[in-house]
Amino acid sequence: MSDSHTSPEGSVALSTEPDSHSNNERSSASSESSMSHIPSSADAADNDSRPSAPRQGASTVAVHAGEARQKPGNSLTDPLFCSSTYSFAKTQDVIDYIEQKLPREEYGRYGNPGVRVVEKKLAALDRAEDAVLFSSGMAAIVGLLMAKLGSGDEVIFFDECYHRSREFCTKHLSRFGVVTRQVKACDYEAMEAAITPLTKLLVSESPTNPHLSVVDLERFADIGRRHGVETLIDATLATPLNLRPIEYGVDYVLHSATKYLGGHNDLLAGSVAGSTEKLENVRNLRGIMGAVSGPNSAYLLQRGLKTFPLRMQRQNENGLAVARFLDEHPKVQHVFYPGLESHRYHDVARRTMTGFGSLITFLVKDADWRKTADFVDAVRIPRIAPSLGGVESLIEQPMVMSYYECTPEDRCQFGIPDNMVRMSLGIEDANDLIADFQQAFEQI
Ligand SMILES: Cc1ncc(COP(=O)(O)O)c(C=O)c1O
Repeated sequence: MSDSHTSPEGSVALSTEPDSHSNNERSSASSESSMSHIPSSADAADNDSRPSAPRQGASTVAVHAGEARQKPGNSLTDPLFCSSTYSFAKTQDVIDYIEQKLPREEYGRYGNPGVRVVEKKLAALDRAEDAVLFSSGMAAIVGLLMAKLGSGDEVIFFDECYHRSREFCTKHLSRFGVVTRQVKACDYEAMEAAITPLTKLLVSESPTNPHLSVVDLERFADIGRRHGVETLIDATLATPLNLRPIEYGVDYVLHSATKYLGGHNDLLAGSVAGSTEKLENVRNLRGIMGAVSGPNSAYLLQRGLKTFPLRMQRQNENGLAVARFLDEHPKVQHVFYPGLESHRYHDVARRTMTGFGSLITFLVKDADWRKTADFVDAVRIPRIAPSLGGVESLIEQPMVMSYYECTPEDRCQFGIPDNMVRMSLGIEDANDLIADFQQAFEQI
């Protein structure tokens, strides 16, 4: 079938699914304005015909949500569907599919059975009605912004948001007549003052990277509600285990699944969760952009998600233990970690988060860029690399990684001093990490 007259969402069901209470419902195959409805995945056993159980814990949800109880080939794990297109047994099936009587896949750019499962799992973890999986976190951000903003519209960012997200708006969306305003992170008055009748979206990250500022989600969502403006939180650093913005009334929650959700530094993916209705045009645009996650990545992500809450608990513990060690170390000038009582937004973090993650930023005392680099080079366990959230600890000096090409003035404006170190702790033993950092400090 030509994809030209079908909606990007395609269908959602595996035709092999034997359960009439399948989580895959009828999709709208014939009109781009009527979207596939992927039902809420809030119930982990959402394909189970037994009465729905009370809300389950994150680990139960991560293992089971979105999965059929009985799978093709009686396999316990979901199979990997490496197919770019899906065949129809007969012409009547094509017609039934277009007339939305036959839920199934049609074309790989619109979806893949594995992608559908991961979307339901992510929606359940975020306690959202629906989620759309993209090929990367940036594809998810771009997809959402492109779907929601048009010429003349305005978007407001807290200025500590991921610099590539802001760059996409200032350099690229601006070419299509979208105006981007940036206000200081966590300055709610400034954000409110920047709203005009043309404002369509308020965007923040929580916590932010690398300064770990934590947004008061009640205030943020309230501003959006009072002004009739939609809100987006990039919760990549927090993950759904530590922060669930949807419960505060935030409209969209975004994750770079490349990080903690995948967790093994072996895939790229991104997701946007929210209501099915609000995500309709996001899913449609994804199908046109071709930014769907490939089946292999979706498979790896599904596998990674099964252990995500376990990994995250360990990473929360490692984060707190190492942050406390650094906070007391004589060669450390300052530690940015929301779990520390000294952190500027600790109270907000305690109110909104159930764990503080494993990203820690700190300043080496009395160090120029070279001495700071010597510390980074002396560390034995964490590898020098960008990214975060995986099982392996990573370390980087923002000045020589993401901000190397910036002018010193720009780095100063972004709050990136030469002696700043950022690390993402993995699941190694905290004692080993602390001993490693101790020996590295002794070398500088
Ligand atoms: C907070 C945050 N959001 C989004 C992204 C983009 O994600 P991806 O690299 O998967 O495109 C990143 C990447 O570093 C990030 O740190």
